[in-house]
Amino acid sequence: MTAGDVHSYSNPHEVRVCHLDLELTIKFSERVLRGAVGLTLERVLPGVDTLVLDTRDLVILGVESGAPGAVATVDCCLGEPDPILGAPLSIRLPADASTVRIRYETRPQSSALQWLTPSQTAGKRHPFMFTQSQAIHARSWIPLQDSPGVRVTYTARVTTPPGLRAVMGAAHDPDVAPDDVPTFRFRMPQPIPSYLIALAVGELAFEPLGTRAGVYAEPSVLEAATREFDDIEAMIAATEGVYGAYQWGRYDVLVLPPSFPFGGMENPRLTFATPTILAGDKSLVSLIAHELAHSWSGNLVTNATWSDFWLNEGFTVYIERRIIEAVFGRARAEMESVLGRRRLASELEVLAPADTCLRIDLTGRDPDEGMTHVPYEKGALFLCRLEETVGRDRFDEFLLQYFETFAFRSISTQEFVSFLDRTLGTEETFVSADVDVDAWLTEPGLPLDAPEPRSERLSRCEAQGQQWLARSLPAADLAASRWTTQEWLHFFSTLPSDLSADRLAELDAATGVATTGNAEVAHAWLLLTITTGYRAADEQLERYLVENGRRKLIQPLYEALVSTPDGHARARAIYRTARPGYHPISVDTIDEVVGDVATPPPVRTCD
Ligand code: BES
Ligand code: ZN
Repeated sequence: MTAGDVHSYSNPHEVRVCHLDLELTIKFSERVLRGAVGLTLERVLPGVDTLVLDTRDLVILGVESGAPGAVATVDCCLGEPDPILGAPLSIRLPADASTVRIRYETRPQSSALQWLTPSQTAGKRHPFMFTQSQAIHARSWIPLQDSPGVRVTYTARVTTPPGLRAVMGAAHDPDVAPDDVPTFRFRMPQPIPSYLIALAVGELAFEPLGTRAGVYAEPSVLEAATREFDDIEAMIAATEGVYGAYQWGRYDVLVLPPSFPFGGMENPRLTFATPTILAGDKSLVSLIAHELAHSWSGNLVTNATWSDFWLNEGFTVYIERRIIEAVFGRARAEMESVLGRRRLASELEVLAPADTCLRIDLTGRDPDEGMTHVPYEKGALFLCRLEETVGRDRFDEFLLQYFETFAFRSISTQEFVSFLDRTLGTEETFVSADVDVDAWLTEPGLPLDAPEPRSERLSRCEAQGQQWLARSLPAADLAASRWTTQEWLHFFSTLPSDLSADRLAELDAATGVATTGNAEVAHAWLLLTITTGYRAADEQLERYLVENGRRKLIQPLYEALVSTPDGHARARAIYRTARPGYHPISVDTIDEVVGDVATPPPVRTCD
C-alpha cells in the first residue's frame, strides 16, 4: 500500500511515476479503449526492482522496460482483484530502467467509463463516451499509481472514429489535423493527481466565452450553455483577485449528456458538468463557481489521501460562496449557505458519528462513502469560523499564502494544521485561543462555535410558506412573490412530509411549479409528491428518473419511493427501464437502494 494511502497498492515511496504518455484508440463497437501507456520513473530508493501499479478490469497485453536502447519485454503479475481496490500490477524493473511501456485495453465494464448509444445523446446521431476518474477509477482506464499523493504530467494521442471530437482536461496540441481517422493530441504540462485525468469523445461543438474560457457541448445544447455560463470570465477574475493567478491557461466547461453521475467534476482546464444546471436563468451556476474554485483548492493544492477529502471540498465550498458573493451578490451567497447548512443538518442526523468528522478513516471502505455533505459543508463552516476569528482581510491573505506555499503539491490534514499554526498562530485573536481546531477536525458533529448562516430572503420565504400551510395565504400569492430557485428549494424543504395530496394539487394548480424546467426544483417537487402520495406526478417522476442519471438528484427519489407502501414495486419497474442508461457509479448506488433489477452479469475471471 502507498504509505498513508489505504486506497492504492502502488509504491511511490520506492519508485515514482512522474509522467505518462498515453496512446489510445476509442472502440465504440466493443466499448473498449485500446492502446498503450509509457511511464517515466523517478527512483526514490536505490535498488528497487518492482514497480507496483493500480488496475481494475484492465487486460494487460504486454509490458516492456529497460535502459534506453535496451528495451525488452519484462515479467509482470496481476494480483487477486479486490472489490474496492482492483488488482495490483507488479512489474519487474531492470536495474537501470527509467521507463515502462504497457500495452493494454479496458473492459466494457471499466468503472471510469460510460459508453452512450446515439439515442442517449442530445443529437441522437453519434455515440459518446466519457471518463470519471475521481476517486479511484483512473485505474480502470490507465494502469498507474492511483493515489492523490502522486502527481504526473502527461501527453496523449487519442484516435476516434470520424466525425467525433476528443477532448481532455489538458492543453490541446495545436497541430490537430482531423483526417479520416482523426487523432487528437494533448499535453498536460502541470503535474496533477491521477483522479484529474479525463477524456470525453462525442459530437462536440465549441463556443468561446471570452479570451480564456469557453464551452464544449453537443451542437443542440451549445447555445443554451453559452448563455447560462456567460459569467465565467467574471468568476475567474473574482477568484484571481483574492487567491492569486489562475494557473492552468484556459478554463473551459464540457456539458455532458444527462447520464453524467455528478453535478460537476473539476478536471483541470475542462470542468465536466451535468446539463441539469442549464436552468435558463443562471440560478444553478454555483456549481460552475464550485468547479472553478477547485482550480485552486484541489487541483493546485490537493488532498494527499481520501481521508483528507475535506481539504479539497470544504475549501472549495468556501471559495465557491465567495465567488457567488462577488459576482451575484451577498443575498444569493447567503441563501446558498443556508441551504447548505440545512443539507448538513439533515445528514448529521443519519450518519454514523465517525462519519461526521472532517478527517475520516476510510480503511476497508470505498472512498465514495466519504462523499457526504460533511467534508463540503462542515469543512466550509470551519473556514468561515476561522475567517470570523481573524477577519476577512487576514483570512484572505492566509489562503493566498496557502495556495502559494503548497501549489502543485498534495498535502495532509496535519500539514494544513501545521501551516495554520505557523501563519495564524501568533495573531492576537489566534485561532488556538478562540477556535478548537482539533475538535473541528477530529470530533463528530458540529462544534458549538459553528457559525450559523442566515438569509433574510429565506426567512421571509419560510414565513410565507408557513402562512400558506396555515391557510392564511393563498397559493396564488406564493406564485406572485416570484421566488428564485433558492427560495423554492427552501420552501419545499420546510414543508412537512405528511402534507396532504390536496394541498399539493393546490400548489400544482396555482404556481405551475410542477412543470418547471429547473432540474433542482423539479427534484424537490417530485420528492414531495412521493412522500405525500400525490400520484398525479407519477408520469413526470418516471420521465425524470429515466432521462436523468445525476446521482444526487435520483438517489433521494428512489429512496423515498422504496419507503412508501407500494413504492418498491414502482421503483423496480422504473429502474428496470432507467438502469441501462445510468453510469456505473449511479448504478452501484441505486442497486443498493432498489435491489439489482438487471440480469446477473457473467462471472468475471482474472487473467
Ligand atoms: N470533485 C467533486 C465530485 C466528486 C467527488 C466525484 C468525489 C467523485 C468523488 C466535485 O467537485 C463536486 O463536488 N461536485 C458536486 C457539486 C458541487 C456543487 C457540490 C456534485 O457533483 O454534486
Ligand atoms: Zn467539489
